[in-house]
Amino acid sequence: MGGTSLQFLLTLILLSLCMKPTIADYLGLADTHLGCKEHERQALLKIKQDLIDDHSLLSSWSSDQDCCTWSRVGCSNQTGHVTKLDLSVSSCFSPRLLREFIASLSNLGHLGLGSANFGRNIPFPFQLGNLSNLQYLDLSGNNFNKPENLEWLPQLSSLEYLDMSIVNLSKVNNWLHVVNKLPYLTSLHLYSCNLPNIFSIPLVNSSTSLDVLGLSNNDLTSSSSILEWLFNSNTSVVDLDLRFNEFQGSIPDDFTRINSLAHLYLDSNEFEGEIPKAFGGMCNLKTLSLSWNYLNGQLDFIQNLTECANHSLEVLRLDGNQIMGSLPDDLTTFLSLGELSLFRNHLNGTIPVSLGKLSNLEFLYLGDNPLKGVISEAHFSNLTQLKYLDLSNTKLVFNFSSDWSPPFQLDTIMMKSCQLGPRFPKWLQTQKNFHWLDIF
Ligand SMILES: *[C@@H]1O[C@H](CO)[C@@H](O)[C@H](O)[C@H]1NC(C)=O
Ligand SMILES: *[C@@H]1O[C@H](CO)[C@@H](O)[C@H](O)[C@H]1NC(C)=O
Ligand SMILES: *[C@@H]1O[C@H](CO)[C@@H](O)[C@H](O)[C@H]1NC(C)=O
Ligand SMILES: *[C@@H]1O[C@H](CO)[C@@H](O)[C@H](O)[C@H]1NC(C)=O
Ligand SMILES: *[C@@H]1O[C@H](CO)[C@@H](O)[C@H](O)[C@H]1NC(C)=O
Ligand SMILES: *[C@@H]1O[C@H](CO)[C@@H](O)[C@H](O)[C@H]1NC(C)=O
Ligand SMILES: *[C@@H]1O[C@H](CO)[C@@H](O)[C@H](O)[C@H]1NC(C)=O
Ligand SMILES: *[C@@H]1O[C@H](CO)[C@@H](O)[C@H](O)[C@H]1NC(C)=O
Ligand SMILES: *[C@@H]1O[C@H](CO)[C@@H](O)[C@H](O)[C@H]1NC(C)=O
Ligand SMILES: *[C@@H]1O[C@H](CO)[C@@H](O)[C@H](O)[C@H]1NC(C)=O
Repeated sequence: MGGTSLQFLLTLILLSLCMKPTIADYLGLADTHLGCKEHERQALLKIKQDLIDDHSLLSSWSSDQDCCTWSRVGCSNQTGHVTKLDLSVSSCFSPRLLREFIASLSNLGHLGLGSANFGRNIPFPFQLGNLSNLQYLDLSGNNFNKPENLEWLPQLSSLEYLDMSIVNLSKVNNWLHVVNKLPYLTSLHLYSCNLPNIFSIPLVNSSTSLDVLGLSNNDLTSSSSILEWLFNSNTSVVDLDLRFNEFQGSIPDDFTRINSLAHLYLDSNEFEGEIPKAFGGMCNLKTLSLSWNYLNGQLDFIQNLTECANHSLEVLRLDGNQIMGSLPDDLTTFLSLGELSLFRNHLNGTIPVSLGKLSNLEFLYLGDNPLKGVISEAHFSNLTQLKYLDLSNTKLVFNFSSDWSPPFQLDTIMMKSCQLGPRFPKWLQTQKNFHWLDIF
């Protein structure tokens, strides 16, 4: 790669880092008739003075313009007050001034300070307590100095969305009790926070309003009270992410007590034993993602899942477990299935021809299994949406007619160490779009 194209690539990466999706929200929000309030414009200009704008993110912030037209700023239609401010991925604040001027934007509803590089000298608790209209707060990716408590948080009583991912909260032993005091919280993101385990359950309040709960990569264990809290709080969580923790033992049947659950991610824990047949009771299930655990047994639970999730299930991921046996015929009951990932298990049976009916399937990962039997065009007859195919390192015998024209165009074809037949598989020549091919 030449120097220029490398530079171009770096620019692209930097640009994409800076373009958090939220920025788009502000474009076109401004109402030029109302214009912005002078004291708020001054506060914003002081914030700008106070930070090193390496990437010229705030170049539109100039003193002779209506601040409602500036990038990363949004104003209310009705009042003209600044209600949105996004300083994510900017650099080097002086914490004292930031605190002062943000406090003067008392109408803020949306504050984005993700990866804002506060530097280690910013003291916690961070005084945002006066922003009682705040509904959206992103403080993720900041290296705050010793956040020892979050007692300021309940003062933000309107908060609906909170992201403090990648902030070290290892000293905040009552984090669950604190967030539980936010009555309108619907979306909580605490990824990679070194969260301490919780050993007592708070009285239930906000947990019932949570839709999205992300607690991945926190070393949470089964001996803590986290799961007990979830199962007993009558929560209506829809999207639950507990990946990359240290939960052990069998996957509790009690997940079925969360009737609302649509997306369950338990990947990369230490769960063992069979997948609960009781999951058949989860009628809203769209994603069941249990990869990289120590799960064993066969795929029998699928029969139970067909009883209720037969129209909803879109993603089934069990990669990196120890599951044995064959793929069941029942899979075809999941009319919406878009991803079937069973990569690296001990599946030693056959693949049913009925698999070819899954007309919404885009991702099919069956590689690294001692699967056997013959695989023919019938297995793919209706897989018109298929984009990613992995059949590597199986014992499957391929038997395709030489003039087969597949119904799909693949992006990725992985068939390493497969018995592709005595002649070169001619159907590969029909594939025009792939980015990745591995057949050796
Ligand atoms: C602002 O006004 C536009 C059109 O006038 C409207 O679609 C939008 O919902 C309003 N936004 C708010 C927050 O009131
Ligand atoms: C918070 O609001 C109160 C009353 O509106 C005001 O007296 C106080 O100075 C504010 N605090 C900050 C940090 O702005
Ligand atoms: C988080 O903070 C604790 C205590 O301050 C410290 O021991 C630990 O190393 C920190 N973790 C990371 C990943 O920085
Ligand atoms: C739960 O919310 C109610 C009002 O919404 C409040 O009075 C009560 O103190 C809260 N309980 C806890 C444990 O935070
Ligand atoms: C659980 O939540 C539902 C719906 O939000 C409500 O009708 C029911 O009374 C709650 N049950 C308990 C025990 O709080
Ligand atoms: C699972 O399905 C089998 C066969 O339909 C049924 O006998 C069994 O009771 C189901 N188990 C649960 C926990 O629903
Ligand atoms: C699929 O789900 C419907 C309810 O949505 C149910 O009536 C039907 O029996 C299910 N089909 C199978 C094959 O389990
Ligand atoms: C799959 O492996 C299990 C355990 O090794 C064995 O009992 C079973 O017979 C095998 N099934 C097939 C179809 O080879
Ligand atoms: C293939 O899918 C189409 C629609 O997606 C459906 O109408 C047709 O019956 C399917 N054919 C087979 C053999 O499953
Ligand atoms: C391969 O397919 C042909 C025609 O579909 C069939 O006659 C033959 O028996 C198949 N071979 C194997 C090993 O299944």
